[in-house]
This record gives sequence, structure tokens and C-alpha cells, in this order.
Amino acid sequence: MVSTQVFNSMTDEKSINRAISGGIIWLTGLSGSGKSTIATHLCKTLIQANLKVEILDGDQIRTWLSPGLGFTKADRDLNVQRVGIVANLLSRNGILVIVAMISPYRAIRNHLKATTHNFVEIFINAPLEVCEMRDPKGLYAQARAGDMQGFTGMNDPYEIPLQPDLICHTADETIAESVSKIIQTLSDRSLIP
Ligand code: PPS
Repeated sequence: MVSTQVFNSMTDEKSINRAISGGIIWLTGLSGSGKSTIATHLCKTLIQANLKVEILDGDQIRTWLSPGLGFTKADRDLNVQRVGIVANLLSRNGILVIVAMISPYRAIRNHLKATTHNFVEIFINAPLEVCEMRDPKGLYAQARAGDMQGFTGMNDPYEIPLQPDLICHTADETIAESVSKIIQTLSDRSLIP
């Protein structure tokens, strides 16, 4: 049984937010735009604030949740839909879920925005040339050499968000600045204290 003292402390406004809010912080953008780096730093910041957080990162998801999927439009949409379902389950149970996925198609992102709990769309925006220069996994070089078909931004579409909740321009701002903008957005939406 929950003691009166604990119950009272759970009912002050801040605690209610902490207990039940949850949210889906959806980072979309090209490969190499900075999604995973921002996700990691944001996660640390939120944990330091004593909030419950999980990261769902595209690379890991493809290993443990979607190992059979490739990069056709149908497979990408299914991948995004699956992650949306998992993120929604966590979010409605009070977890802040940071999703870092290319998620290149606007319609499925908008669908999740309309149907999931506290969905916040953040466009991690860096010019293609910058992403190609960073090329942390050497994939742009492979695509440029013609050794990789269907690589997002090179020979496969990326549909930019038309009305994102926030844009992080990672070629022009530091990781700390991007994280700070996201924190402000979450606070404005009352998803964090
Ligand atoms: S998607 O479109 O949302 O389903 O993609 P995602 O699950 O985020 O996976 C993207 C990572 O897969 C690697 N990779 C590719 N990306 C884009 N296009 C093609 N053809 C491709 N093949 C492999 C790539 O490393 C992506 O990781 P990030 O971290 O975005 O660079």
C-alpha cells in the first residue's frame, strides 16, 4: 500500500509530470547528420535530471527488432512503424523515448505524430555535403562509387519535415546548443519539469 506521505508527494504538480508525462522525441535526418550523437548527449542530460529515458537508435533497432528488413520504401516504413509502436508503449507509461532514425518518409512520420503519445518531431538538419564529408561509416563513399544502391540522400529520397517541432542545424551549432534547444522545446511542451 502506498503511504499517505508518498501519495501526497506524488500528487504535487512536478511529480505528476515526472510520473505520467512521457514523450517521444523523434530525431529524423540524413545518415551522418548527428542523430545518434545528439540522442546520446540528450539522454545523459535527461538522466542527470532524474528522468526516465530510453534510446531507440536505427542501427540497433535493425539488429534486434528489424533484422530482416532492408531499405526499400516498404521496409523503411515498416521499420518506422514498429519503432513507433514500441515508443508509444513506453511513452504512455511515462518514459521519455529518444528515437534516432533516418525515417525518410513524411507520411509515416505524420501518421505517428497524429496517433502516438506526445510525439515531438525534431529535424536534425545538416546539408548533404556536410554529411558526406563526415561520412562516419564510409557509406557515402560507397554510394558515390556506385557500390551502394538506395542510399538516403544520394540515390534514395529524404523528405524533409514541413512542420517539425524543432530544427537542429548541426553544421552551424554545437551538440550542446542542439541539446539545449531540445530541452527548451520539451519544457515548452511541459514534457519535462
Ligand atoms: S530508416 O530509413 O529509418 O529505416 O533507416 P534507419 O533504421 O535509421 O537505418 C539507417 C542506418 O542504416 C545504415 N544504412 C543505410 N542508411 C540509409 N540508406 C541505406 N541504403 C543504408 N544502408 C545501410 C546507415 O548506417 C544508417 O545509420 P545512420 O546512423 O543514420 O548513419
